[in-house]
Amino acid sequence: MAEVFVAKVSEIPDGERRIVKHDGHEIGVFHWQKQFYAYQNMCVHQGGPACEGSIMHKVEDVIGEDRTWQGQRFSATQVHFVCPWHGYEYDLRTGECVPDRSLKLKTYPAIRRGEDIYVVAE
Ligand code: FES
Repeated sequence: MAEVFVAKVSEIPDGERRIVKHDGHEIGVFHWQKQFYAYQNMCVHQGGPACEGSIMHKVEDVIGEDRTWQGQRFSATQVHFVCPWHGYEYDLRTGECVPDRSLKLKTYPAIRRGEDIYVVAE
């Protein structure tokens, strides 16, 4: 196990990410609502740079009391990032592939020490 320095907290504003390299792998480190999340930058689909894609709130259907579709809205609580190659969506807080949560990006512990962010890599 090795601790890999990622950046100063101030260098990754909330809602942004940083990609770091370690031992031939890339790791995407996300800052979201004062928490840090780290995933291998390799999509479960065809190995694309999943962590480099757009960050967006989940789009969810709005269903009325009469069970009719009322439209769509952005979720207030769930956020995804989208692989830029073919659009697989991942839950930013878990690294799970949203349509099939049994598929998941490799995760790494992200540690904050003072103003420094590290990930624990193999
Ligand atoms: S490689 Fe990521 S969606 Fe295809």
